Amino acid sequence: MEKKKAFHGSDLELIEKEFGIKKEDIINFAANVNPFGISPLMKEELAKNVNVIETYPDRNYTELRKAIGEYCSCNPQYITVGNGSTELISLMAQFIHPKKALIVGPTYSEYGHEIGLSGGDITYFELKESEDFRLNIESLFTELQSTHYDMLVICNPNNPTSGIITQDVLSLIMQLCKDFNTFIMIDETYMEFSEHEKFAIAAPLTERFDNFIVLRGVSKFFASPGLRLGYAITKNEALLNKIRSEQNPWSVNSIAAFAGTVMYKDTDYIKRTKEFMHEEQRRIYEIFAKSDKYKAYTADANFILLKILDEKLDAGSLFELAIRNNFMIRNCDSFPFLSDRYIRFCFMNREDNDKLISLLLNA
Ligand SMILES: Cc1ncc(COP(=O)(O)O)c(C=O)c1O
Repeated sequence: MEKKKAFHGSDLELIEKEFGIKKEDIINFAANVNPFGISPLMKEELAKNVNVIETYPDRNYTELRKAIGEYCSCNPQYITVGNGSTELISLMAQFIHPKKALIVGPTYSEYGHEIGLSGGDITYFELKESEDFRLNIESLFTELQSTHYDMLVICNPNNPTSGIITQDVLSLIMQLCKDFNTFIMIDETYMEFSEHEKFAIAAPLTERFDNFIVLRGVSKFFASPGLRLGYAITKNEALLNKIRSEQNPWSVNSIAAFAGTVMYKDTDYIKRTKEFMHEEQRRIYEIFAKSDKYKAYTADANFILLKILDEKLDAGSLFELAIRNNFMIRNCDSFPFLSDRYIRFCFMNREDNDKLISLLLNA
């Protein structure tokens, strides 16, 4: 399943070197980051409070967990924080330490990478193109019943397919996994962008199940990848205790801990982002659905996956065309089950989206 390396949304220096384009001039359609930039309220408050770095953060992150709890309507006791969701993915791979893991994919590569590093054997449960990359719940159940997996990984909404699984389906999966003693890791990095968020978030299921953990972060929705703030929600006491006792102390720095108590209160910014994204999800899907050059898949996150139908084009040539116009898109060739027939791009501001759309339609 190993594929060749593609440029990641954070590879701007590499792009600068290879294509001679200054990184400041690149419009990054590959990083999946909110184009509105950081929350104005957080910017203002951070500027006034930089001296928070003069002290160690509270080791228990009480205020931060309380703010996250309010934002997610969830008991702060079930919340733990980390250095981006990346640290939490890595900790889960170490602590759950699955002998066998099932990853629903094509998806984000870090799950497989981290589980592999901790010695786990990985199987991918394929989201099929013939089913528009939607989860086939019957086949997933058959797979979970036929082989014992210690861990199931679901990215919801999924990167790069942008599809979502609703809470009722998740609860069926949790029930089945409970019977089979399978722990579920759900990555909700892109959840707040979805119009179906209310019906898809896993946090309310913590009241019924303790065999799952939700991972989230502020890198994408709150446009703060440099802050490195992530959090996890689980009711699993044993796992929470293990994280508390074995995670490095102060893995979230004071600036991030402070920012996290402010940004969730910026309701105007949150509302503006959601409204804009919901509109772009529909608008851009409809544009590509009408084109005979591409097949579009419904977008539930802030990005869309396209299949290239025009045989004269491929992901490599479109990547080059886009980058020569200072637009960086994602060539999906490196994702398992995808190929150089697929590209992904995220939604930036309306004007830039229109320029990229026109470039792709006229390629
Ligand atoms: C699905 C998914 N999860 C996690 C991450 C990493 O998030 P963080 O910056 O919170 O570590 C990414 C980054 O691209 C991602 O796409």
